[in-house]
Amino acid sequence: MPKDKNSPRDAAEPPTGNVSEAQIAVHWPEEDYVSPPPRFIAQANLTDPGIFARFSLDKCPECYKEFADTLDWYKYWETTLDASNPPFWRWFVGGRLNACHNCVDRHLTRHRNKTAIHFVPEPEHEAVQHLTYQELFVRVNEFAALLRDFCGLKAGDRVTLHMPMVAELPITMLACARLGVIHSQVFSGFSGKACGDRIADSESRVLITMDAYYRGGLLLDHKEKADTAVADAAAQGQRVDKVLIWQRHPGRDSSPTKLVEGRDVIVNDVLGQFRGKRVEPVPMAAEAPLFLMYTSGTTGRPKGCQHSIGGYLAYVTWTSKHIQDIHPEDVYWCMADIGWITGHSYIVYGPLALAASSVVYEGLPTHPDPGRPWRIAEALGVNIFHTSPTAIRALRRVGPDEPAKYDYHFKHMTTVGEPIEPEVWRWYHKVVGKGEAVIVDTWWQTETGGFLCSTVPAMHPMKPGSTGPAVPGIHPVIYDDEGKELPGGSGVAGNICIRNPWPGAFQTIWKDPERYVRQYYSRYCKDPQSRDWRDWPYLAGDGAVQAADGYYRILGRIDDVINVAGHRLGTKEIESAALLVPEVVEAAVVPVADEVKGKVPDLYVSLKPDLAPSAQIANKVSASVVTEIGAIARPRRVIIVPDMPKTRSGKIMRRVLAAISNRQDPGDVSTLANPEIVDRIKELAK
Ligand code: WTA
Repeated sequence: MPKDKNSPRDAAEPPTGNVSEAQIAVHWPEEDYVSPPPRFIAQANLTDPGIFARFSLDKCPECYKEFADTLDWYKYWETTLDASNPPFWRWFVGGRLNACHNCVDRHLTRHRNKTAIHFVPEPEHEAVQHLTYQELFVRVNEFAALLRDFCGLKAGDRVTLHMPMVAELPITMLACARLGVIHSQVFSGFSGKACGDRIADSESRVLITMDAYYRGGLLLDHKEKADTAVADAAAQGQRVDKVLIWQRHPGRDSSPTKLVEGRDVIVNDVLGQFRGKRVEPVPMAAEAPLFLMYTSGTTGRPKGCQHSIGGYLAYVTWTSKHIQDIHPEDVYWCMADIGWITGHSYIVYGPLALAASSVVYEGLPTHPDPGRPWRIAEALGVNIFHTSPTAIRALRRVGPDEPAKYDYHFKHMTTVGEPIEPEVWRWYHKVVGKGEAVIVDTWWQTETGGFLCSTVPAMHPMKPGSTGPAVPGIHPVIYDDEGKELPGGSGVAGNICIRNPWPGAFQTIWKDPERYVRQYYSRYCKDPQSRDWRDWPYLAGDGAVQAADGYYRILGRIDDVINVAGHRLGTKEIESAALLVPEVVEAAVVPVADEVKGKVPDLYVSLKPDLAPSAQIANKVSASVVTEIGAIARPRRVIIVPDMPKTRSGKIMRRVLAAISNRQDPGDVSTLANPEIVDRIKELAK
């Protein structure tokens, strides 16, 4: 068994000198392999040992024909990859298809009466809804007719969705896709302000939301956020003409927030006019955008990652089939939120393109008790399960013995979003998976559309804590800061990049192509004039180390992004929210290792001269972060300090603050402009 030692000190120093997640990553030694169960292998979609030769680097990009062939095309494409304008890759050029047709219509011949979506409401007394492919077809058509004829939307328009985890969310997304309308779904837990910023950036004139939803036993008013969102967008010059409001309980209002005359429309009041209507799917160009997904990056505001129809859908369909091992007869449950990329790719588009039954669960996994997920799995016959280390840690903490009480059997389980500790992996494997399920630890990003690294479940042994080798067709490389390649087994961490373009990769940042090039492709570009894709490696922004066996271990972000419970938050976003509090003059946020959430933010602030620190100010800062971004960004602590540790040029040394918050040695601070401050901050942060 290969063993290697990875020193945390080798983790890549980011160019800014700020702290990175990779540097404070928890390190653990290489683990022993665990074999996939023979029963899984016997039924798996991918067991062909020829696969890696077929997808070797020299077969790129033509090998991706196999991905495109998982889809129905109105017009087959002519060029696999047009790389003439790097790094703006165009996949399957000349092809025409429709994503909604591929996820719905094409299944009607064989799977008309099969469940497409199991919607599980959080209140346990409410009945589960089982939407067949036929019902999904009818509802998507009616809503598409409404979007087209009542809202006047057409291909290429953007629409912002701010919807909770309900069946109406995939219905809305698919109705947009049917028309070629670009959807931009904002996580429902984000604040109205955060939604408004995304409306403005995407220039949406229609917002689609829901009046209320259940979370943690409460019926939360969600409509109120729409009012804030529209006002915020208006302040940035973007007018919203219509707010479409789905009702959580059809036929009755669940939100006390008043409707705005002429703008707000209850979907159910209008939908009646479109009963029985059919809308032909619009044959879209393969490289037309399917959706925008906003995510946090290195600087300032979240950026809209633009994903294509053909490349993206081919990528998530192929990986759903071969890495998730989805067969049409499977009942698949991914516990992520559709408001994140995981939900787009692996709740909606991938599974539905394969005619699977996909579970959409509204609420908290631990509501009303930690047995809930396992009851759902038992009741619906879920056999493929997909979640994050944060959820696994939380479920393990509150109900370590719960899974054994329920009669469900998973053949396959996924973990995604953060590194998983081997100890937690083993509980997932032994207790949740009952030792019967194969596990894939999938590493990827909003930008990448689908999985980059993972074991092929029937072909590779698993190694707890390692994501595995790259998936077929993906060719990673780890560079050090000078651009030297760090080979597998070197024991040294560096910046993980992908050598080749792949169809799932995002096309650009909405309205900011320069930032797209700068942030993802310029760092290791071998020649900016080159039109050869081999000169344009993609920089993921994660620190990683490759073991001698080729398996990758992801250490965390190397840039100004904090991964809290698997949710990406920009440090600048949090700090700007803190600076909105008038008393605050400086703010610095750092990631702190947390037993359940992986990382949580600690927020350091300093105040205007002569102001005394108080709990009241700290609370105001915390509240501002929640209003600006959402509750997921709430700092663990707001620590008011007399001054920040600074370099002589006046730069805040986040590295020092991170060390203090993580109870580590801040190292040599003698070169700071104000070394004496470190001990005082240590006292305050105790
Ligand atoms: C982290 C979520 C370790 C990583 C799909 C990445 C992971 C960021 C893993 C992207 C994993 C994701 N092991 N770290 N299996 N998967 N990450 O855009 O830092 O929300 O860059 O996409 O999550 O987060 P995003």
